[in-house]
Amino acid sequence: MKQFTSVHDVADPKKLVESALELKASPYAHKALGKNKTVCLIFLNPSLRTRLSTQKAAMNLGMEVMVFDINEDGWKLEFEDGVVMNGDKAEHVKEAVRVVSLYCDIIGVRTFAGLQNREEDYAERILNQFIQHSSVPVVSLESAIRHPLQSLADMITIYESGIVRPKIAVTWAPHVKPLPQAVGNSFLEWAAAFGWDITLANPKGYNPAPEFLRGVKVTHEQAEALDGADFVYAKSWSSYDRYGKLPGDNADWTVTQEKMSLTNNGKFMHCLPLRRNLVASDSVVDNSIVLKQAENRIFAAQSVMKEMLENN
Ligand code: CP
Repeated sequence: MKQFTSVHDVADPKKLVESALELKASPYAHKALGKNKTVCLIFLNPSLRTRLSTQKAAMNLGMEVMVFDINEDGWKLEFEDGVVMNGDKAEHVKEAVRVVSLYCDIIGVRTFAGLQNREEDYAERILNQFIQHSSVPVVSLESAIRHPLQSLADMITIYESGIVRPKIAVTWAPHVKPLPQAVGNSFLEWAAAFGWDITLANPKGYNPAPEFLRGVKVTHEQAEALDGADFVYAKSWSSYDRYGKLPGDNADWTVTQEKMSLTNNGKFMHCLPLRRNLVASDSVVDNSIVLKQAENRIFAAQSVMKEMLENN
């Protein structure tokens, strides 16, 4: 695996989940694999789980880890080609990534959607420049339109339940500000690759991009999606059609215990961070499997980096 940016980079997603579960059972079994190897994790945006779980995963594999908050600690990056760099951007992404490649064996990068220009975000302009200029494998730590390590952790969490063909409700949730579509997009794409039964509920005008709706039933009635669900995955995202916009008052989309009673003793899931009593009520969060998901972020990252160390 030269890059990990989506489920499409994975030859056998089920096998990768099984590898992650083996690593969960024996986290230090491959400690020799990462000896004298280094991963550099570059963040253009904030993170708690991705940063720490990927560091932990690397340490479990015996790797050294460098973490770089490039916007705070690095030179301001230029991403345009052919410009006269006489403004505030002192370093071009071409040199920056080529230099980082000299110092490590794997690069991880987090770069969120700007939500200003849909074409630019959906072309993954920044992530693709990292891939283009890196001489070592690149792992997405969440890009403009996908969050593959989160999705892999979510697949591991659902797979662990032992339910062979789970019924999954994905529900849009309220938020105070417009958020990127990456987590929802990515979850739908991975769950569809596993052939699971997925119903998506969101307000009208908040359908994800068509490429993420393959194998997904869509409703604008939240109760319809939750009915009989084994898992309820909640996430807020801004509009794809009216790009980057958030609906007005949609507090009635908050997931409550009463709504969860429609499910098949369903488990509530969220990638975190989560705004309590806005996305979901306290009792829903307290009875959820969000911590299992967060724990599985370690083994998602570990399985991906193990594959890269073994095959590059
Ligand atoms: N779920 C997730 O990616 O969390 P962080 O943004 O804290 O890394």
